[in-house]
Amino acid sequence: MLEDLELLNVGPAPRMKAEFAPRVNLITGDNGLGKSFLLDCAWWTVTRRWSAEVNPRMTSSLEVRPRDAKRQACINVRVANAGNTRSQTLSGVRMPGSEQWHPPTALPRSLGLLLYAHADGSFSVWDPVRNGWYHDGGQVKTRRPPYVFTEAEVWDGLRDAQRSVPLCNGLLHDWSGWIKAGDAKADAMAVALRALSPDSERGDELAPGPPTRLSLDDVRDIPTIRTGGVGPVPILHASAGIRRVAALAYIITWAWGEHQVAADLQGAAVTPRVTMLFDEVESHLHPRWQRSILKALKDVGDALLDGAALQLIASTHSPLVLASAEPWFDPEQDAWLDLDLEGDPPEARLSRRTYTPRGTPGAWLTSEAFDLRTERGSIEAEQAVLRAREILRNADAPLAEVMDAHADLRGVLPDVDRFWVRWNAFVEERGGAP
Ligand SMILES: Nc1ncnc2c1ncn2[C@@H]1O[C@H](COP(=O)(O)OP(=O)(O)OP(=O)(O)O)[C@@H](O)[C@H]1O
Ligand SMILES: [Mg+2]
Repeated sequence: MLEDLELLNVGPAPRMKAEFAPRVNLITGDNGLGKSFLLDCAWWTVTRRWSAEVNPRMTSSLEVRPRDAKRQACINVRVANAGNTRSQTLSGVRMPGSEQWHPPTALPRSLGLLLYAHADGSFSVWDPVRNGWYHDGGQVKTRRPPYVFTEAEVWDGLRDAQRSVPLCNGLLHDWSGWIKAGDAKADAMAVALRALSPDSERGDELAPGPPTRLSLDDVRDIPTIRTGGVGPVPILHASAGIRRVAALAYIITWAWGEHQVAADLQGAAVTPRVTMLFDEVESHLHPRWQRSILKALKDVGDALLDGAALQLIASTHSPLVLASAEPWFDPEQDAWLDLDLEGDPPEARLSRRTYTPRGTPGAWLTSEAFDLRTERGSIEAEQAVLRAREILRNADAPLAEVMDAHADLRGVLPDVDRFWVRWNAFVEERGGAP
């Protein structure tokens, strides 16, 4: 489990520190305030490699640059130890004027498997057995670099460019192969899809169908998927949301299955811990699905990873994702971290907020997570309401001004808006005609 992450002289502030809870961590904040950056830095400190350095086809998760190249930059991560012993600190530094980062030389002993779902559909996987490193005569030797898949490579497979060997056969090949061979991983994939399905009461569960051909020219057997009663549809024709979740189900199934094989080969123990970094957890998902995805991920350890303890660190721009945690959010186990611009000159600041239920996703829009001034969807309606609120506070506002604001509201605010109750009463009081 990651306990905290500290950035010095990198990213959108001179210093930033995130303290994580053991179960679900939600990161909110405006565009460009450092959510992906935090995840990338956490990833590097554990794995010693930037995702785009391992796989040059990646267009995100590049090596980070220091803010001020003349000063030392540091990334520190604290990892909880499995027993009651002290936590372990991993520190990476970049010296002034240097062209490269010096990663930590300590192995994150008790972190377990690390999965990173990037916002653009790419994935990175670090397995302590397959990708760990060891000290050999004072030198750090890596078994092999982490697995970094672009979105296309999740589907078509990943090869080791230097040795030209397959590292992963990809979703299309593996999944149809597992089904045809009656492999237990086919069942694991079916369980994963069900666990990650949207709100199953409506019968929208995702389930695998029989593999099929797409055309005479393509000899691949393409996995198919059913959504509720509909389908089967070849997975390549499925919607973006379904493909995103199928890819996630596959990466979890593949990474966990290969970890077990590797542990067996190496005579190592299967890890009881999984850490998942998830950038923009709601991307491509319909609101109904946004409402269920976080809980599904929270329960992924029990559902798919043989009871391994799962720590999730997820960024989001979705008020529905935040609202969906209201029934189970526990401040002992979960945290909400929020990035804001503060100070002069403005700098990003990360704060751990108190998570209090707000009842509706709309109410979350005006929370610190999103900082909107009202819950209204259009800027025009919001501006008209803000102007009218100003007038409500000013008992001396001339009637002409009141009626002008009234006309504004009439133009943009729907009749059902609850602001009308207060406003109409005020207009009548002032002698105007609502
Ligand atoms: N490799 C890098 N080196 C240095 N600075 C970077 C690097 N990548 C991004 N930044 C800067 O860090 C800041 C945070 O970017 P980041 O992508 O983390 O934002 P974000 O909060 O994820 O935004 P969004 O919600 O749009 O995804 C930006 O100001 C960006 O310019
Ligand atoms: Mg981002």
